[in-house]
Amino acid sequence: MTTSAYEIIDHNYDIVVVGAGGAGLRAALGMTMAGLKTACLTKVFPTRSHTVAAQGGIGAALGNMAEDHWEWHMFDTVKGSDWLGDQDAIEYMCRNAVPAIYELEHFGVPFSRTEAGRIYQRPFGGHMRDFGQAPVQRACAAADRTGHAILHTLYQQCLRRDVEFFVEYVVLDLIMDEEGECRGIVAWNLDDGTIHRIRSHKTVLATGGYGRAYFSCTSAHTCTGDGNAMVARAGLPLQDHEFVQFHPTGMYGSGVLITEGARGEGGYLTNSEGERFMERYAPTAKDLASRDVVSRAMTIEMLEGRGVGESGEAIHLHLEHLGADILADRLPGITESARIFSGVDAAAEPVPVLPTVHYNMGGIPTNVHGEVLRPSAGDPDAVVPGLMAIGECACVSVHGANRLGTNSLLDIVVFGRAAAIRAEETIKKRAPHRPLPKGVSSRILDRFDKMRHADGDERGADIRLAMQRTMQKKAAVFRTSELMAQGIEEIEAINRRLADIKVSDRSLIWNSDLVEALELENLMLCARATLHSAAARTESRGAHAHGDFPERDDENWMKHSLSWFDADGKLSLDYRPVHTYTLTDEVDYIPPAKRVY
Ligand code: FUM
Repeated sequence: MTTSAYEIIDHNYDIVVVGAGGAGLRAALGMTMAGLKTACLTKVFPTRSHTVAAQGGIGAALGNMAEDHWEWHMFDTVKGSDWLGDQDAIEYMCRNAVPAIYELEHFGVPFSRTEAGRIYQRPFGGHMRDFGQAPVQRACAAADRTGHAILHTLYQQCLRRDVEFFVEYVVLDLIMDEEGECRGIVAWNLDDGTIHRIRSHKTVLATGGYGRAYFSCTSAHTCTGDGNAMVARAGLPLQDHEFVQFHPTGMYGSGVLITEGARGEGGYLTNSEGERFMERYAPTAKDLASRDVVSRAMTIEMLEGRGVGESGEAIHLHLEHLGADILADRLPGITESARIFSGVDAAAEPVPVLPTVHYNMGGIPTNVHGEVLRPSAGDPDAVVPGLMAIGECACVSVHGANRLGTNSLLDIVVFGRAAAIRAEETIKKRAPHRPLPKGVSSRILDRFDKMRHADGDERGADIRLAMQRTMQKKAAVFRTSELMAQGIEEIEAINRRLADIKVSDRSLIWNSDLVEALELENLMLCARATLHSAAARTESRGAHAHGDFPERDDENWMKHSLSWFDADGKLSLDYRPVHTYTLTDEVDYIPPAKRVY
């Protein structure tokens, strides 16, 4: 079939949002409310987006349980980021956190309540009072199903406002013109096999993370870095991909998440000697130190022979002492998950857990308005016209080298809203679309058609497994120069196998073989960016724990990594400076300091 044989169905919108998780829905909602004609495309039904899996809470200094201030939240986020976060963006997020929660409350999010009827807040890792002095309760929770509550509420609001959904559409690529402006997208409707071209004045990527590049992760199977890969194919860089968060408590075996809220409610970790070892690693915050610190401590315990279970590859999470009533009231979801996935009654015995890939701090570089950047030597903050990115696929960068728990739900609503505000400011409603450059859609369809008819000798599932195993071993909690050099060699060899992939189903309707092959290409770009940028960063910072360079090196590495791919897929690295300034003069820049919890 030649690409001209694909009939293209055209649509015109003011704005197209790709992805219907919390970020995409919050953006689409705000854009529709602003009167912009808004399309939202999603490869799964909106309420199945991965936001649904977020458990423990959304961070905001409401001060419902004890005194709290957004400036303390900002301090914790900067410290959590190990000073790689851009402080202008962190100020924006933490300052806007409190109104964002009240907005969600008014939209109808069913938060848990205190006796006094206020939003219930629980302790979480790295959330401290008084600029790091002692733990504070800042995570606004809807039991242990906070993401579920937010996602469903936002979807209902979007339906109420007539956001136009294109459900179960796979976006193939961005339409970029010769001037480097994004003019829309081309997508494939899985249900009837049709191809759609959507012209838009702005395209917003909200496609989530790429956790599935790893063997064991808490991410949904849909987390395949689609937006990151579209950006890379458009000749734009990916930022800070070396920073991959391992959540301390993935369930042993399945990787299913056990919320940090479990430790927030009083749960604690022990090793095979029954020792509460976090007291040695983080004397003040203990089990509620930030995630990179806890994951490293657990890994050291296991490496030194103090892991639990037959293989010694797990650590015990104790919740028994909390009692069945607290578990039923505050942690019902994880109590059920422990029973289903580990066969453990959490009210009676410890749950075996281990650090599991959970979040990508890196992604598509943006400014605080959600506009995608194309950094150059002359202008590290230059904006790509027509293109925005928000949520986990973006790197604004509020999480820097390590994200604090609950800041991901906050990120998606704050920057989803920011993108909507920017769209309203910059888009002239219903303005006509200029003609598209010739051949731009057929280039996208050529790539699609080539994959659809790929007739090599390699099964996609085998290539994917090889990639996931390499990432799991060579870009892990601890990395060394030797491991990462091996990782690069392996991942480049695995990447070459993609040229010999076989797609056995040629159909255009519900062809999961083809979807998975396209997703694999996307994951591979993300995996390569992760390994290359990790190997180049000769320091330890946040989630990047380099065995040969155990210290943070502010003199040489206060910079964001940029991974660029050329038209042949060759990768090169470059850097842009961290923003060492705040957004307003109401708060001061927080200078780098030693990170102790
Ligand atoms: O542990 C959790 O509930 C996860 C929250 C988060 O990643 O922010």
